[in-house]
Amino acid sequence: MPALVLLGAQWGDEGKGKATDLLGGSVDYVVRYQGGNNAGHTVVVGDQKYALHLLPSGILSPGCTPVIGNGVVVDPAVLLSELSGLNERGVDTSKLLLSGNAHLITPYNITVDKVTERFLGKRKIGTTGRGIGPTYADKINRVGIRVQDLYDESILMQKVEAALDVKNQLLTKLYNRRAIEAGQVVEELLGYAEQIKGYVADTTLILNKALDDDKVVLFEGGQGTLLDIDHGTYPFVTSSNPTAGGACTGAGVGPTKINRVIGILKAYTTRVGAGPFPTELFDEDGEALRRIGGERGVTTGRDRRCGWFDALIARYATRVNGLTDFFLTKLDVLTGWEQIPVCVAYEIDGKRVEELPYSQSDFHHAKPVYETLPGWSEDITKAKSFSDLPKNAQAYVKALEEMSGAPISAIGVGPGRDETIEINSFLS
Ligand code: GDP
Ligand code: IMO
Ligand code: MG
Repeated sequence: MPALVLLGAQWGDEGKGKATDLLGGSVDYVVRYQGGNNAGHTVVVGDQKYALHLLPSGILSPGCTPVIGNGVVVDPAVLLSELSGLNERGVDTSKLLLSGNAHLITPYNITVDKVTERFLGKRKIGTTGRGIGPTYADKINRVGIRVQDLYDESILMQKVEAALDVKNQLLTKLYNRRAIEAGQVVEELLGYAEQIKGYVADTTLILNKALDDDKVVLFEGGQGTLLDIDHGTYPFVTSSNPTAGGACTGAGVGPTKINRVIGILKAYTTRVGAGPFPTELFDEDGEALRRIGGERGVTTGRDRRCGWFDALIARYATRVNGLTDFFLTKLDVLTGWEQIPVCVAYEIDGKRVEELPYSQSDFHHAKPVYETLPGWSEDITKAKSFSDLPKNAQAYVKALEEMSGAPISAIGVGPGRDETIEINSFLS
């Protein structure tokens, strides 16, 4: 079972960090393949809590080699500060590998992210302000700066000048900001070059050799399926492909190498930032999910919007990712509700719809159709096997599985590594 992809099945924050960390002890490589430090993955090990943004969650497992693939966008200042933060807490980060083809988030990309959002006003996306979109835009426009450019000063200068050519016109003439000096940007970037150099590698070659040698490689997605630039709720999405195909392009590994695709699925739904969300709650239930689930963004500290489970989203995630399994997280958060509504269909302009609509207008008009399942009140955080769960919790999981189109192979009943019920092994 050499290659697995683990990704978010909803709008992010499903518990990918915990799931990756759980498997980290049994895999040889954990690879981030897209996104950047817009991600916030929480991992709880014993009484220690870690918030990872750019580094793969496998960095906390001593036997595992963490890899930042070519598809990731890297803010070098964030990379260094995350590494030193972990080093101070005694985590060995020396095995990290960073693709020389990964693109760098430059200070001007962060500026452009912020001014663009300000200009959009009430139509803003609600980005994390980390420069993610503008950095991917530069990559697609072929004016991006890559990690390898740090090691050729004259090329770096030419590329930064080319990137700033148009941007400075926009910044000064449209956005009323000061122009950015290419020389200053280059100096700042060169300041990181030596500190990063030891991690830079041909990660595609290393990963493909590892797969040929039957090593176990886990690809860890950032964000979630509905934040995907192609398959998400465009334009309220991130600027990369968290869906399964992104693992191939973002790490340089062919689709024939991937054996298993695991969707991390929260037992209810959350979203950060703007955009449609059919099952969103604006009442005390939403407030209770936020409070009990601790639903506050790890990256920006924003409150997450909360709502009931949406089976159309889960089914869609199964479809566009070819999911083989689900890891259902945060089931414990639902303890205490007498009845739990689950969205089984949408009503769109008077019609019942059972698959996620592709049209943005339809999605904006979708009203959830709920089926209500009986809740449970017993504490489930100590459950170790499926049969330890109260009957109604078992029935809730089985109902979700039926609606979602792939087996639920693990269940999270708390944030800790060991607060997990394993049903089918991911590694067999
Ligand atoms: P990620 O971005 O997908 O890695 O998820 P986040 O870390 O942003 O958010 C998930 C939150 O839920 C974190 O605070 C986790 O510690 C926590 N968490 C993960 N799994 C469970 C679970 O099964 N139960 C509970 N109560 N918390 C969980
Ligand atoms: P993890 O990996 C939840 C959201 C932002 C915004 C949109 C675009 O922790 O699940 P961006 O800065 O990427 O251009 O913002 O995407 N977003 C996330 N929401 N979890 C994340 O990551 C997210 N990363 C980006 O809130 O709506
Ligand atoms: Mg998160």
